[in-house]
Amino acid sequence: MGKLVVTDHPLIQHKLTILREVETSSMQFRQLLTEITMLMGYEITRDFPLVDREIETPMGPMIGKAISGKKVAIVPLLRAGLGMVDGLLSLMPGARVGHIGLYRDPETLKPVEYYCKLPKDIADRQIIIVDPMLATGGSLISAVDFVKEKGANTISCLCLLAAPEGIKAFQEEHPDIDLYVACIDEKLNDHAYIVPGLGDAGDRLFGTK
Ligand code: PRP
Ligand code: URA
Repeated sequence: MGKLVVTDHPLIQHKLTILREVETSSMQFRQLLTEITMLMGYEITRDFPLVDREIETPMGPMIGKAISGKKVAIVPLLRAGLGMVDGLLSLMPGARVGHIGLYRDPETLKPVEYYCKLPKDIADRQIIIVDPMLATGGSLISAVDFVKEKGANTISCLCLLAAPEGIKAFQEEHPDIDLYVACIDEKLNDHAYIVPGLGDAGDRLFGTK
């Protein structure tokens, strides 16, 4: 079974409270989302394997540690996932970035795919799919289906807020995938929005409402 990790560090909780507030501007929202993602990045990279590396300090030789293993590809779900890319890139500047375009049809609430561009060597990379909102779970489930179809075999997902319903649906479909969230909220409302949530993440990030 994949892990469910709630990254509830005090700094994350504090920044998340400001980010949720209705008065928070798009400019602040973008900045806070980047900062929170960077902090969550510590947790998602915690199990990265290390190897010994012989180096020379000004005082003499030593065996240091260096990250080994698969290189990373960050895959945001458009649009709102774009707000989580810079935070991870600041920790892993050499990572590749793929994009998956999905929107949730307001009538059916089902995800509709409109764009996909992934690194060619996706099978050899550690894939981190990012999307701030895990509501019904439909979008994230489709995104993982999609990268698996393209050959990815090491995948984890990073979301800001999750509804219990979405976590359940996701774990039923993809029990092998680790899921990192900053907070599990109470429920979904009748329009499948997370409550208390933060509203529409894409609109708040890009100022489109
Ligand atoms: C939001 C969000 C997720 C999806 C979550 O995107 O960023 O991708 O909804 O809902 P689900 O778990 O019920 O699938 P949205 O469809 O609003 O598109 P946008 O990011 O382009 O605004
Ligand atoms: N998408 C959002 O942006 N917010 C929600 O609460 C649910 C889906």
